[in-house]
Amino acid sequence: MSEPLLHSCAPRLFYIRTFGCQMNEYDSLQVLRQFTALGYAPVEDMGRADVIFLNTCSVRGKAEQKVHSFLGSLRRLKEAKPYLKIIAGGCVAQQLGRKLLDRFDHLDMVVGTRAVNSIGRLLQQLEETGARGVFLEDEGHIGLGFQCGEILPQKGITAPLTIMQGCNNHCAYCIVPSVRGAERSRRPEEILEEIGLLERSGVREVLLLGQNVNSYGRGLEEKIDFSGLLRRIVAETGLSRIRFTTSHPKDLTEDLMDCFAELGPLCKYLHLPVQAGSDRVLARMNRRYTAAAYLEKVDRLRRLCPEIALSSDVIVGFPGESEEDFRKTMELIEEVRFDNLFSFRYSDRPGTRATAFEDKVEAQTAAGRLAELQGRQAEISLGKNLAEVDATREVLVEGPSKASNGQMTGRTSQNKIVNFDGPLSATGKILRVRISVAYSHSLKGEPL
Ligand code: SAH
Ligand code: SF4
Ligand code: F3S
Repeated sequence: MSEPLLHSCAPRLFYIRTFGCQMNEYDSLQVLRQFTALGYAPVEDMGRADVIFLNTCSVRGKAEQKVHSFLGSLRRLKEAKPYLKIIAGGCVAQQLGRKLLDRFDHLDMVVGTRAVNSIGRLLQQLEETGARGVFLEDEGHIGLGFQCGEILPQKGITAPLTIMQGCNNHCAYCIVPSVRGAERSRRPEEILEEIGLLERSGVREVLLLGQNVNSYGRGLEEKIDFSGLLRRIVAETGLSRIRFTTSHPKDLTEDLMDCFAELGPLCKYLHLPVQAGSDRVLARMNRRYTAAAYLEKVDRLRRLCPEIALSSDVIVGFPGESEEDFRKTMELIEEVRFDNLFSFRYSDRPGTRATAFEDKVEAQTAAGRLAELQGRQAEISLGKNLAEVDATREVLVEGPSKASNGQMTGRTSQNKIVNFDGPLSATGKILRVRISVAYSHSLKGEPL
């Protein structure tokens, strides 16, 4: 070990940068927890860190490029501080493994999504030996999810909670099954125990995470499905609110739809990615539902729970998407009128089936379609928000607004952000707020 022993009494400092989805955010919280348990302290200024952990995303080409350029930019920091340890985790780490280590010689360690549970031990090993390494498999002693026990006080009153890993669907465009592995569900007891710990540290709302929560429970010893898990969480915890994401439309059961009408703490909001409005495109994507089947589920949901808000994901420019196919996507968003839509231009991902499809849509055509879709959706989203004006909504207050204008911020059950003038002491409480102004991505209101 040739490292200079700097800060012999001060704790070593670490910095975590997270790219990608909420599952990565959850994993980053667990990394934070394990590093802190080893006596390291988090630091906000990356320049002061002794250890940098980069949690990466590979879902689209752009996301991966961001990771490469960020990693590249760390070279100078490492040259100035040779004792700095740089670790890459997440989906690019799992996807590229040794290639990532070879490409960036200032990178010390690559830890895939399947090995991140052991991050504490791996960091210790790195500090002791200084040896560069690639870890892509869970070595089996910790298993799925992170062990409970000590949980760090949460900063916020809402917390993510991964209930399952991986995905068994093979959507033709998607890299997630290859970087997150096969679907595995965590045991309900472990989930409930973790919620208990979160509640004790002040959390009022959890966001249950999985690539397809609707198939929760498959392969567990105990016979339980996702609606069963939701009912248990409502019965056995005191959470004010429960959200979840994501649901695959083909697996959205009537039982789960009933939960929206039945369970008070379950937020009246569903993210239900449709991806496309053309059956031909949906079939080539291997989504295994039709646009009509999707619309039928939306209808049923709205009948059961009229106040439910819906959001979705759409890919434009999937290989072979014709102008007529794209029109069907536009018709679908017109018919559903989603509260919020996340839309992306199709991106080739290594190893996926669609990458081999030959009828790629020209970049310019796809960009034009995306702009049209986003333009129209912005109008729909604003229209939906305008319809909230004068309504009274229950807002779970999350804390001071990011805009640092002295306002407080929170969300309605429908996942709409509401900013309002109010005291800091309102944090964690549910307030009744009258909506006064609508913007395209948020609302303003006055607490009653
Ligand atoms: N498991 C979730 C989504 C995971 S990825 C689900 O099934 O809904 C999040 C979103 O990224 C997807 O819904 C899709 O719209 C988009 N996406 C995934 N792969 C993509 C690709 N190759 N190109 C463009 N968008 C993609
Ligand atoms: Fe990807 Fe499809 Fe699995 Fe979602 S359901 S993670 S889009 S393969
Ligand atoms: Fe990205 Fe991995 Fe999430 S690829 S979207 S970080 S599961």
